[in-house]
Amino acid sequence: MNGLGNPAGCGPVSAIVLFGPPGSGKGTQAQFLREALAIPHISTGDMLREHIQAEDDLGREIKAVMAAGQLVSDALVIRMVEERIDRPDCQHGFILDGFPRTLPQAVELDGLLGPRGIGQKVIHLKVDYNKIVNRLTGRRQCPQCGTLYNIRLKPPIIPGRCDMEGARLMVRDDDKEQVIRQRLAAYDAQTKPVLDHFRSLGRLNDIEGSEASPKVLAEQIIQVVRAR
Ligand code: AP5
Ligand code: MG
Repeated sequence: MNGLGNPAGCGPVSAIVLFGPPGSGKGTQAQFLREALAIPHISTGDMLREHIQAEDDLGREIKAVMAAGQLVSDALVIRMVEERIDRPDCQHGFILDGFPRTLPQAVELDGLLGPRGIGQKVIHLKVDYNKIVNRLTGRRQCPQCGTLYNIRLKPPIIPGRCDMEGARLMVRDDDKEQVIRQRLAAYDAQTKPVLDHFRSLGRLNDIEGSEASPKVLAEQIIQVVRAR
């Protein structure tokens, strides 16, 4: 991957790390960036939900952990990410959504990307926790194309149906208020220390994400990504 150009226009190949608490808009922004920059969106949460849908032993184990609002093991997600970033579609860069979220994951990511000549642009979406609960309890998602909606903030044209596919929109199992609060507690305990890691390396780009629309935020992020 070394030295390859990047359609994102930010020089050498980069991993765009979308970082922030549950419901901060990582998935929403990844959908914008994937379109704008023509690079793949890698969401560890989506990959884990695919295992759950497969209903195998691993899927059942993951389901219990996610339903409790806890994090799955570092070893599992690191293996998934390593396998994914070595696929050919990642050669011009990629978007990481939900990874890393522990210090060991962040250290492993450095070890994965450094030797491959891939830089990191870390975007930290800062969002007030009360807004997050409001957002996540209203979130809906198309099971076919993945488009995200919100019944209060970004409703579909036909209630309960995807604008693109017409498919019945789904509610995530972990979007119950009690589980949302557990996910926020896991973020505070295990993921916030990763912010200090990124900050100490000078990689952190804070974006205030509580008020602005997804489109405005996407424009800000693209500016950061394109800055040298
Ligand atoms: P994951 O799927 O990554 O969930 P999360 O981090 O909890 O984040 P969400 O997907 O809930 O929120 P988001 O930031 O993507 O927000 P969204 O764009 O959807 O992980 C799920 C679970 O998997 C974890 O709890 C853990 O168990 C496990 N896991 C995953 N990765 C792991 C890892 N690396 N290590 C260990 N375990 C891991 O937006 C939310 C809502 O807000 C939507 O309705 C949207 O329409 C709306 N919205 C978005 N932006 C705006 C805006 N600007 N204004 C108004 N509304 C907005
Ligand atoms: Mg998400």
